[in-house]
Amino acid sequence: MNLKQLAAIKAVEMIEDGMKVGLGTGSTAYWAIQEIGRRVKEEGLRIETVATSQASEDLARELEIPILPFSEIPHLDLTIDGADEVDPQLNLIKGGGGALLREKIVASNSDKLIIIVDESKSVETLGAFALPVEVVPFACEWTLAALERLGCKPEWRVKDGEQFVTDNGNYIADCRIERIEDAPLLEQQLNRIPGVVDNGLFIDMASIVIVACSDGTIDVR
Ligand code: 5RP
Repeated sequence: MNLKQLAAIKAVEMIEDGMKVGLGTGSTAYWAIQEIGRRVKEEGLRIETVATSQASEDLARELEIPILPFSEIPHLDLTIDGADEVDPQLNLIKGGGGALLREKIVASNSDKLIIIVDESKSVETLGAFALPVEVVPFACEWTLAALERLGCKPEWRVKDGEQFVTDNGNYIADCRIERIEDAPLLEQQLNRIPGVVDNGLFIDMASIVIVACSDGTIDVR
């Protein structure tokens, strides 16, 4: 079993019958969705879910996990999602998969956000992973210039030779900051730039972080 799967299985143990659950995005969340699918099928677990991306929704449907429209679920009991970096205060960088906006909306409407990572994601200071910022296409060059003025060293994300477009029709600027000294301040500064939809800093949002370590142990923070 790989480390991502190990962390995912531990998180899915926290799901109880009748819960409303948010499904995250990425290769670690993939394992959580697989495990939820197994529990639904083999244990008859009864839950309702919403997904943070088209990819996760497609996977959940394939596994016959009940997915509901957002209009039918006012609030979630918990969301299980991955992260790109986690610091000792449980602040996060997310958005490596480009789903940060939907992930933040879903997380902020959940009683608990359970983050699952392998130990490579655990850092002292956020920033070595380029911080994703979601930007609307309109006048995006001006928004990029504003990010540069803030010292963020942004670069447009490219996938398969094309500008990457999020599920919301926006672009991602990956900001090579290296070391984020004041993550709560930067999170607010970025979101004050007109044209920025949101950014991948998740401050004070994670309730529990489950870290799978290479010696096979699981650290629950
Ligand atoms: C997607 C995310 C992911 O949770 C994050 O990038 C971690 O991905 P992975 O589990 O594949 O390493 O925020 O937008």
